[in-house]
Formats: sequence, structure tokens, C-alpha cells
Amino acid sequence: MTNNKFLEGKVALITGSGSGFGREMAIAFADKGADLVINDININGLKETRDLILKDHNVEILLAKADISNSEEVKAMTKQVFEKFDNVFLLVNNAGIDGGLYASLKAKEEIYDKVMAVNVKGAWNCAKALFRKMKGQRQFKPVRAKIINIASCAGTQNGINPLLGIYSASKATLIAFTKLWALELGPSDITVNAISPGVFLTPIYKNDPKLIRQLLDTRGVKLPIDKIGDAKWVADVALFLASPAADYITGQNMIIDGGLTISINKL
Ligand SMILES: NC(=O)c1ccc[n+]([C@@H]2O[C@H](COP(=O)([O-])OP(=O)(O)OC[C@H]3O[C@@H](n4cnc5c(N)ncnc54)[C@H](O)[C@@H]3O)[C@@H](O)[C@H]2O)c1
Repeated sequence: MTNNKFLEGKVALITGSGSGFGREMAIAFADKGADLVINDININGLKETRDLILKDHNVEILLAKADISNSEEVKAMTKQVFEKFDNVFLLVNNAGIDGGLYASLKAKEEIYDKVMAVNVKGAWNCAKALFRKMKGQRQFKPVRAKIINIASCAGTQNGINPLLGIYSASKATLIAFTKLWALELGPSDITVNAISPGVFLTPIYKNDPKLIRQLLDTRGVKLPIDKIGDAKWVADVALFLASPAADYITGQNMIIDGGLTISINKL
């Protein structure tokens, strides 16, 4: 990564960037020169993210309040984006919800619909709204655009978790979409990868390490690297995928979990 500002002139749209990983990724991309579209349903969170970034970085930021599970709101957001900017080089499908702790067959239908609508359809809505424009971005070589999906260990073969039933299924689906989109968009020089975090201290876990420890204990999991993750570490992996060093990587799911998924039922 020789060019310190490798995202200069490029726009990053990050869903769910009013807190947690989304906010850290927005800060990390701005640090490399990216202009930003920060999306969330939480406008106050977005304003906090914007103010944090503008303290240290001179970049353009569009606040886009939209519910990504609603295709009309995503279309309206896309229109707003191209009124202000001429590209979206990076789409990070980060917004997600867990839906609570239930075995999948005990979840209520509303939970199923809501979790799938945000975690799966939300990412699909955004990719669908943007891929044509991305294909036309021939000014960027050798890669015209990149999509990064924030999945979860809970969606991987070793990490599938009965306590997070519908959530696990939604993230497994997002990993499947990552591979499908990599196949569909590779010929247009667009890369698509996923990041699957293990356990990280963010608002999704109410910023409560005890809650995370309890969840790990219920499954008898001991982390080989016995630390709860810092959201900045996920932003670092996203930065790597966004960088020229990752231009030839596509269709992959990068697990960042301190060894959680290799240790389940083994330690
Ligand atoms: N924290 C972890 O340990 C962990 C582990 C694995 C995966 N993840 C995933 O990381 C992603 C980010 O989560 P986080 O931990 O930063 O939690 P978070 O709750 O801080 O961030 C999620 C953000 O998404 C927003 N959001 C929710 N529904 C939305 C919608 N319909 N439209 C637009 N925005 C919406 C929320 O308002 C919130 O700001 C999620 O997809 C989550 O599933 C988190």
C-alpha cells in the first residue's frame, strides 16, 4: 500500500454507519482520502459520525437516512448520492440486526421477516441499486468498484449458532451472495468480498463485554486469542480489501475472530 491516500477521488457508501463497525470504517476510509455517503436509520448516530470525521479530515460527506430493507428508500438514496457525487467506488453492506436470541424454529415470523429484510434484502437492495453505475466506472483501473459485505462467523460452517438462529441463516445467505455477486460482477472488474467478525464490543452487544462472555460460555467457547474484539480491527480489514493490495481478491470471506471458529468444540 504505497499511496497513503489511495481512496482520494473515490466515494465510499457505508450502510449502518451511525455506530459500531460502520462508523469505524467511515473514519478509516476518510483517513485514506475517501468522500463518504454515510447511511443509517439513526440520524443522530450519523451526525455524530460526521462530526467525528470532520474534526480531523477534509472530505465530503453526505448523510443518507434510509431504511435499507425498503427498496424505494434505497432508490431515493441512490438518486441523492449521484446528485452530489460522480461515483461509488466502495459499497459496504454493513447495516445488520440480530433479532434476539432464539433457536431458528422458535423465532416469530415477524423476527424472521425483519432480520432477513435488513441483513439480506438490504444488502441486495443496495447492490442492485448501484451495480450498473459501478460497471460504468472505467476511470478506475484495474478495479472499477468494490463491494464489501459484513457477514458474521455465525454464518460460517463452524460458527453456525442455534442461539442466533435466523441471524446465522441471514449471514450464511449474505456469504452466498458474496460469491454469487463476485461471479456476476467479476467480468466488469468489480470485486466482492465478505468480512466475518467474531465477537466485538459494539452497540449490537449493548457495548457489554459480560453479555458477550455469557454468549460464548453457553457454547463452551474459549477464544484462542482471549480478547473481545475492537471495532477498529474490522475497519483495518475493510481498509485492506478497499486497497490496491486486494485488487485480485474476490469472492472471499475473511474471518476475523481471534480463532473462535477454529476452536468451537475443540478447546
Ligand atoms: N459486533 C459484533 O460482534 C458483530 C459480529 C459479527 C457481525 N457483526 C455485524 O456487523 C454489522 C455492524 O454491526 P455493529 O456490531 O457495528 O452493530 P451496530 O448496532 O452498532 O450497527 C448497526 C447499525 O445498522 C443500523 N441499521 C439497522 N437497521 C438498519 C436499516 N434497516 N437501514 C439502515 N441502517 C440500519 C443501526 O441503526 C446501527 O447503527 C452488522 O451487520 C452485524 O450483524 C457484528
